[in-house]
Amino acid sequence: MAESSPPEPQPGPARRSVLRWLAGGAGAAAAGAVGVPLAAYLGGAVGGHPVNWVPIGRVADLPVGETRLHVFTDPVREPWDGACAKAGAYVRYLGPGDDGQPRFWVFAMNCTHLGCPVSWFPQSGLFMCPCHGGVYYENGEHASGPPPRGLYHMPWRVVDGVLEVQAPHLPTLQDTLEKPSGLVQLGRSRIGRPTGA
Ligand code: FES
Repeated sequence: MAESSPPEPQPGPARRSVLRWLAGGAGAAAAGAVGVPLAAYLGGAVGGHPVNWVPIGRVADLPVGETRLHVFTDPVREPWDGACAKAGAYVRYLGPGDDGQPRFWVFAMNCTHLGCPVSWFPQSGLFMCPCHGGVYYENGEHASGPPPRGLYHMPWRVVDGVLEVQAPHLPTLQDTLEKPSGLVQLGRSRIGRPTGA
């Protein structure tokens, strides 16, 4: 007659309880690891980004018809960002319009392909990207290379004679910068095609 194997020892109630707690804790940790960043992402998408205005300089001090790079520390940064916290805007003062108000082209310095900083070459009147050869005309429109569109226009405004640009984050194809509000003079070229020179 075959001998029957002894029954498997079953965990006692205390051990089962510990295992349940461990499984529950691991599940909660995993949910937190996925859920917290997801909630933050969705919250940012719904709530938008904070609006930050960065002073560039007095309009009276800006040369007419010259494109200049203005570098500043991005107001949206973390202590560990280091040199990555530096941002920049290409600003060209177009002079006053028919209504006497100043007009500007203000572009984010990041290439619209993969974000490399573009360089301005006044001799040729072109912005060029060193990464993959993207080229833009002086009005920011795409000239050649892999970028899918022209440079991003940054919202601007003039407050008490000082040009300020909105610099909350690196814009993307899906995400335009925040629309400003308030009783200030707002840039006409802040979104969409540039104003004429
Ligand atoms: S990042 Fe500028 S062309 Fe690719």
